Amino acid sequence: MNIQFVDLKAQYNMIKKEIDATINNVLSKGIFIMGPEVLSFEQEFSSYIKVDHAIGVASGTDALHLALIACGIKPGDEVITTPFTAPATTEVIKHCGATPKFVDIDAKTYNIDPSKIEKKVSRKTKAIIPVHLYGQSCDMDAIMKIARKYKLKVVEDCAQAVGTEYKGMKVGSLGHVGCFSFFPANNLGAYGDGGMVVTRDEQIAERVRVLRLHGSPEPYRYTVDGFNSRLDALQAAILRVKLRYINEWISHRNEKAIFYDQLLIKLEGISIPYKEEGNRHSYNYYTICVSGNKQWRDKLLIYLKSQGIHAVVFYPNSLHLQEPYSHLKHKKDEFSVSEWYQDRVISLPIYPEITKKQLEQVVDEIRSYIIRQGAKK
Ligand SMILES: Cc1ncc(COP(=O)(O)O)c(C=O)c1O
Repeated sequence: MNIQFVDLKAQYNMIKKEIDATINNVLSKGIFIMGPEVLSFEQEFSSYIKVDHAIGVASGTDALHLALIACGIKPGDEVITTPFTAPATTEVIKHCGATPKFVDIDAKTYNIDPSKIEKKVSRKTKAIIPVHLYGQSCDMDAIMKIARKYKLKVVEDCAQAVGTEYKGMKVGSLGHVGCFSFFPANNLGAYGDGGMVVTRDEQIAERVRVLRLHGSPEPYRYTVDGFNSRLDALQAAILRVKLRYINEWISHRNEKAIFYDQLLIKLEGISIPYKEEGNRHSYNYYTICVSGNKQWRDKLLIYLKSQGIHAVVFYPNSLHLQEPYSHLKHKKDEFSVSEWYQDRVISLPIYPEITKKQLEQVVDEIRSYIIRQGAKK
């Protein structure tokens, strides 16, 4: 058995004709930097998210970095975020010279717990980065209420959440800025790196446009020190093809998730992902939680791998205890919810093309492990 975590070849094979044609088209035109493909993808992506501006950049990390600079984050500022995320979310705060202020997560959604944010707001706080983890939206009403009260910018980290909806609106359109990643394994993945900043704020959009092009609003005029952070024309062309399928793919992911739910709910010691009523989960990852401890979870991962099933832990180490943040002197158990889940979550294979038989095989192997090990150890 070989069930990959994501199967990018299966997706390519489904849309091979269109992808090959668009790549050939870019090659024959010879425009690889900026140009019509990037512009068209930006327009199409902004209408998909329902925002006024979308600016293609080199990666999701750059999207966050440029968005923070465009929001005026500077040395000495503090930015509130979750410790249960990818390092990209917090490293960019430090690259601005600012400090991440961690807030623990909610036990149901694994996203930042809004009820714990206000205590962390200080005079230095300038922004909040809510991360829509695994494809599930944060509680944006609660977050925006706090942001309005303290005049904070909200930079949504939507790296795992293309197509996720909160109360009928796409994430990325709820805060002041939304940042997307087109990492190949994501819901909407490029064939390399890519990212996008979206916003309704004309000033922020213009700053990001200038920052991504060496600080240049027009050829050979430079207004700030910028970056080389452009989305490649080839990636933009590929993403334009894939964007046409995104709604269909997210529906497939939801169907697969429901099927997993139905099978896994019968297993002792396994919790299926919580899904907030009224929101649309995009299941970038399908993440279960085990009631056993870290050792039990890690042995399950090894067992699944031995059976040819590739599951992954996002994230085994909460960021507040990682080396780059040691100067903040956080202690073990300080963010106990995040630390509890880092030892117990597992993301199972999910992608639009995965078959029901494969999902059954994954669950069968989890069941055999439970029978052999006992539900809790
Ligand atoms: C939550 C989160 N934020 C930001 C990023 C950074 O995106 P990229 O890899 O495109 O730079 C990732 C990447 O996986 C992520 O998962």
